[in-house]
Amino acid sequence: MKENMENLNIKQFEPLAQELEKEKYILNKSADELFQQYLKGLSKILVKENKIIGHLSLWKYPDSEIYEVGTAWVEKKFRGQGVITNMFIELLDEHQGKNIFAVTTNIKMVKILMEKVKMDLIYKDSLSQEVEKTLCFCGPDVTCDFENQGICKIAHKPGVVREGECYIFTNKKK
Ligand SMILES: CC(C)(COP(=O)(O)OP(=O)(O)OC[C@H]1O[C@@H](n2cnc3c(N)ncnc32)[C@H](O)[C@@H]1OP(=O)(O)O)[C@@H](O)C(=O)NCCC(=O)NCCS
Repeated sequence: MKENMENLNIKQFEPLAQELEKEKYILNKSADELFQQYLKGLSKILVKENKIIGHLSLWKYPDSEIYEVGTAWVEKKFRGQGVITNMFIELLDEHQGKNIFAVTTNIKMVKILMEKVKMDLIYKDSLSQEVEKTLCFCGPDVTCDFENQGICKIAHKPGVVREGECYIFTNKKK
């Protein structure tokens, strides 16, 4: 398996965008959005036989210096081999200077972030006001201000009700 970050074209992101639509815990992204992230150097991508088999990206919130690491996806037959763990470690290492959060209700992801990637779990109450109003939380009890730069729209997947607790991680002690 090799990481090929140089010669990807937008067509290669189309199957990935389709896969994301099927995943309960991932927000939909278009091939173009995924491709733009890659061009900006904000993604980790694993390619095998010209197909994207692993993906992770840093999404910047509008009008803020806050990033959310997400769109974590590994093709089924390559899961459970440490692929996403390594991608997280490398991506966070390459972007150490940035203010990065991860927000998830996926308990499998929580375990990976805590035990393998070793991001810091933080409580919603301990977030600064700026971070709190920027980050969008995924629990059903969340009230989002849709007028507010569309930020909350980013964090909603049509037709999916997220259940369970929402965990927030950061790459820095706040
Ligand atoms: C979540 C996902 C990205 C994990 O990718 P991955 O490459 O399989 O993860 P890793 O192999 O790096 O994970 C390592 C750890 O995850 C956990 N894990 C991996 N597969 C698991 C499984 N099938 N069941 C439970 N835990 C599992 C274990 O803690 C594992 O550690 P171990 O190898 O010591 O047991 C992948 O399953 C996926 O693409 N899922 C669908 C999309 C999704 O839900 N993304 C997350 C959005 S928040």
